[in-house]
Amino acid sequence: MAAVNNAMTADFLRSAYGGESMAHMRYLIWAELAEKEGFPNIGRLFKAIAYAELAHADNHFKVLGEQKGDFTVPAGAIFGVGDTVTNLQGGIDGELHEIEQMYPVYLETAKFQNESGAERAFHYALEAEKIHAKLFQDAQDLAKQGKDMNLDTVYVCPVCGYTEVGGPEDNCPICKAKSSIFKAFE
Ligand SMILES: [Fe+2]
Ligand SMILES: [Fe+2]
Repeated sequence: MAAVNNAMTADFLRSAYGGESMAHMRYLIWAELAEKEGFPNIGRLFKAIAYAELAHADNHFKVLGEQKGDFTVPAGAIFGVGDTVTNLQGGIDGELHEIEQMYPVYLETAKFQNESGAERAFHYALEAEKIHAKLFQDAQDLAKQGKDMNLDTVYVCPVCGYTEVGGPEDNCPICKAKSSIFKAFE
């Protein structure tokens, strides 16, 4: 396991760990609400993406490796218990923040500081979040019409959080892991 040598990259890893941990939990909460509202497939999408965020949190945590200690971790977190359309907007906003602001900056910092483990973890998350934003948008377009998604099995790569509806392809397009290890949400 690569050590992290630079304080700023370590701070970013801890913050990203915090953000992903909260996204994981928030999506599980919103999944339950979607199911109660009569959108079981949107609920399943939330659960699948929650698992992808767990993979991201796991990567960030493990890259920090030997950096033990007690830290206060500032991290972006969206709050709100609403209807599914509103909760999906929270999902879209959170993913877009990660795609447009957070991960590009974290990734460039990791590159600049020659932190290869962090660079990989941030790259994996950035690429997966792009898919999540799109899937949440598709879900919201339907939910606005009062419709659930027509959703095939959702596959999630446990290494990088790549998320695919249907398929899967032979290898993960982000991290090249064998798709036989993907977790299926059906
Ligand atoms: Fe995501
Ligand atoms: Fe992957």
